[in-house]
Amino acid sequence: ALYGTARENSLGLDLTDPQVLAPVAKRMDEVAATKWHGKPSVGGALKDGTAREVRDPADHSRVIGTVTDATPELATQALERATRAFPAWDATHAADRAALLERTADLYEQNMAELCAICVREAGKIMADAVAEVREAVDFLRYYAYRARIDFAGPEVMPGPTGERDEYWLAGRGTFLCISPWNFPLAIFTGQISAALAAGNCVLAKPAEQTPLVAARAVELMHEAGIPGDVLHLLPGDGAAIGGALIPDPRVSGVCFTGSVPTAHIINKALAEREGAIVPLIAETGGQNAMIVDSTALTEQVVVDLCQSAFQSAGQRCSAARVLFVQEDVAKRTLGMLAGAMKELKVGDPSDLSTDIGPVIDAEAKENLEAHIARMEKEAKLIARAPSTAQMEKGTFVAPVAFEIDSLDRLTQEVFGPVLHVVRYKAEKIDQVMDAINGTGYGLTMGLHTRIDTEVEWMRRRAGAGNLYVNRNMIGAVVGVQPFGGEGLSGTGPKAGGPRYLSRFACERVISINT
Ligand code: SER
Repeated sequence: ALYGTARENSLGLDLTDPQVLAPVAKRMDEVAATKWHGKPSVGGALKDGTAREVRDPADHSRVIGTVTDATPELATQALERATRAFPAWDATHAADRAALLERTADLYEQNMAELCAICVREAGKIMADAVAEVREAVDFLRYYAYRARIDFAGPEVMPGPTGERDEYWLAGRGTFLCISPWNFPLAIFTGQISAALAAGNCVLAKPAEQTPLVAARAVELMHEAGIPGDVLHLLPGDGAAIGGALIPDPRVSGVCFTGSVPTAHIINKALAEREGAIVPLIAETGGQNAMIVDSTALTEQVVVDLCQSAFQSAGQRCSAARVLFVQEDVAKRTLGMLAGAMKELKVGDPSDLSTDIGPVIDAEAKENLEAHIARMEKEAKLIARAPSTAQMEKGTFVAPVAFEIDSLDRLTQEVFGPVLHVVRYKAEKIDQVMDAINGTGYGLTMGLHTRIDTEVEWMRRRAGAGNLYVNRNMIGAVVGVQPFGGEGLSGTGPKAGGPRYLSRFACERVISINT
C-alpha cells in the first residue's frame, strides 16, 4: 500500500486548445476586473481591521485588492479555538476528513480560472505556471486524502506474544502552524494545510505577506467544502508578529514552514527556547542547486532543460538550477547555444500567453537580485542576458542572465531569481565538483546530463540532495510521483507529496493489552 497507484493527478487545463482557453480567458478577464479582499478567518468568521493594498508585481499601478492582517491577539484567539476543536477533529474518521479534502479539490477545479487569475495578478505567475499551481494544489488535496485513508485507517495489530494484543496507530498531534511562501502561494499553502488536516490536526495558516489573496480564496473554498471554521483558521500578516505570538505558545503542537534558511533558524530557535512540549518543525528551505553536464550530453536537450530549470517562474523556485557545471570540452558549444536560447526568452506581462518570464515578487527581491548581478558584472564573465521589454518598467522584473564564474566559492548564498552561474570543469576533476556541490551544505535538487550509465550510479551514490534529475529539467516535482524535499540547509527532510509525509504530522501510539 505504501506506493499504491489507485489515484490520479489532476489533468489541469490544456491551454493550447482554443475551446478550453476561451472560457478561461473570459473568466480571467472578469476576475481581473474584480477587487479582492482578504481577511483573517477565525472560527469561520471573517475579521475586519485596517486594510493594506495588494499590488500586481507586473504593474505596480494596478491595485488588485486589499488585505487585513491578523493581530497577535487574533492569532491567540484562533489558537484557543483550535485547541478546543482538536479532540473532535482528531476523532473524526480519517475517511471523513479525506472526503472533505477531496471536496475541496473538486471546488478548486471548478474555480480553476479564478484561482489562476489571482495567482497571475498577485504572484506574477505566467499562465502555464498558474495552471500548474492549481493542479499541484488539487493533487496535494487528493494525494493526502488517499494517504490518510491508508495511514490513519485505524490500529494495526503487531506480531506479539500469546496472551497479549499489541496495536499501533497514528493520531493527530494538536494544532499546527503552517507558514507558507509566496512562490507557490496556492500549491504549498494547500499542501501544508491538507497534510496537517489529513493527519487529524487543526491548522493556523499564515500565508506569505505578498500573497494573502489567493490564500483567502482557498480557505473560503476549504470552509465551503465543509472543513470546520474552528479547525482551520487563516492568519494573514507579518511573519514576525504572528509567529512571535504563536510559536512560543506550548499549545502549538508543530510548525510546518517553507521559506528562507534564516527564518527556519529563527523558528527552530524559538521552538527550542520555549517551555512545554517538544514539537516537530517540518522545514523546506532553499538550495544551491547544481546541474552537471558531461561531454556525452545532448546539448539541445541540456539547453531546453537548463532554461526551464534556471529561468521558468523567474527562477523563483527552491528547486531551480543556480549553477551549471559544464565539462570544458563541450562548454563552448553549450554556452553558445544557451546564449542563443536566452535571447529568445520573452519577459513580460504574465497574463499574456506568449510570455516566458514574469516579474519577481517585489521591490526587495528585485533590489537583492540587482545587487548580486552588479557584483557578478564585476567578478564574472557575462554569457547572455534576455532582452528587456517595455513591460519591465511597470513592475519588478529581472531579465534572465547567465554568468561564468571561476568557482562555486563565489556564491555564498542562494540567489533566488533568474540568475544562472556557470563553472567549467575538467573531466578528471568530477569528484571535486561533487565535493564542492555537497560542500555548500544545501541538498535540495541536483541535475545530471550524461549518456554514461555508470555516471548515473555515481551521482546516486555521491549526491547529498533530496531530488536528483537525470537527462531532464530539475523543477516541477509531481505529487505522488516525485516526492519533494531536501536535507541539510535545504530542510528537515520530509518529502511533500510522498508516502511518508503525513506521519511527520502525527503521533505514533501503541497499546499493549494483556488478554
Ligand atoms: N516543488 C517545486 C518544484 O519541484 C519547488 O518548490 O519545482
